[in-house]
Amino acid sequence: MDTGAFNVQASDKKLLSDWQPHYKDLFGKYTIKLQHRLKDSGLFSEEVLGELIETYPRALYNLNTAGAEKGKLNWREGYLADTSGKDLIKAIKNGHLWLNLRRVMDVDKRYADLLQQIFDEFEDKVPGLHTFKQNMGILISSPNMTVPYHCDIPGQALWQIEGRKKVYIYPNRAPFLPHETLEGIILGETEEELSYHEWYDDHAEIHVLSPGEMALWDLNAPHRVVNEDCLNISVTTEHYTSDIRKSYAVNYANGVLRRRFGLSPATNSIGGLMPYPKAALTLLWKKLGLNKKHEVVKMVSFKPDPKADIGYVDVEPFVR
Ligand SMILES: [Fe+2]
Repeated sequence: MDTGAFNVQASDKKLLSDWQPHYKDLFGKYTIKLQHRLKDSGLFSEEVLGELIETYPRALYNLNTAGAEKGKLNWREGYLADTSGKDLIKAIKNGHLWLNLRRVMDVDKRYADLLQQIFDEFEDKVPGLHTFKQNMGILISSPNMTVPYHCDIPGQALWQIEGRKKVYIYPNRAPFLPHETLEGIILGETEEELSYHEWYDDHAEIHVLSPGEMALWDLNAPHRVVNEDCLNISVTTEHYTSDIRKSYAVNYANGVLRRRFGLSPATNSIGGLMPYPKAALTLLWKKLGLNKKHEVVKMVSFKPDPKADIGYVDVEPFVR
């Protein structure tokens, strides 16, 4: 069956079109900016995305807006209600909205095939690279929308399809990312948003992503994104490797030791024997369900409206 996905195997057109041999030494450790051909798959046009949105499972999308209140961003969660895909994209185009279609590879096999092709290509290019728990999301966001300073736990890449955005990437260590903060995110105590100061920008790498460009960066590196004055369609991919999994387990266990037992873990290194007892503690803590009580509760408070200037209207808040 023709799934409609871009088929690397049947084509000499690779998804990554300007890979350089030395990038294999940079993968996962430094920022790499590449050209890509994701758009050629036909899976990211407004028409195809509009259809995808209409049947998208509630549990797998986030619709957000952020209003400034007393100089601080007030990040809000919405829901699609009965908005058509076409109207939602119109609302995003004219408003102040950010739609994240999470785990799209679980919703539609065409995206699963594309995700597989992406990581087959990376694994082909980077000797010894073995990835798992690959994940793909689609971000559709309004002109001038920003995503605040935050960090992500798995390996990350951002692929631009339509519009342009500026990505600021910061060092993945204190003071930009203190150990305790990373642990708090991994434990689910706080969302990925971090405290940010303007002077951080003096230490940022700044990349403008245009359609057909993507960037990969160092594990957990904090970043923030500013859309230019146009609709943005982007793809995010995530992945784990055995080193990323060890880093997760060590940071999780350190967070538990620091918070619940008053200890100050000396290292977050993943080398040597230390990760394994810490991985066991992580597993035990999760198995006992002790990780649940600090997780963040989300309230839904708006729905899209293509006729509204801001692209949405408020609804009576309810728990998601
Ligand atoms: Fe991110």
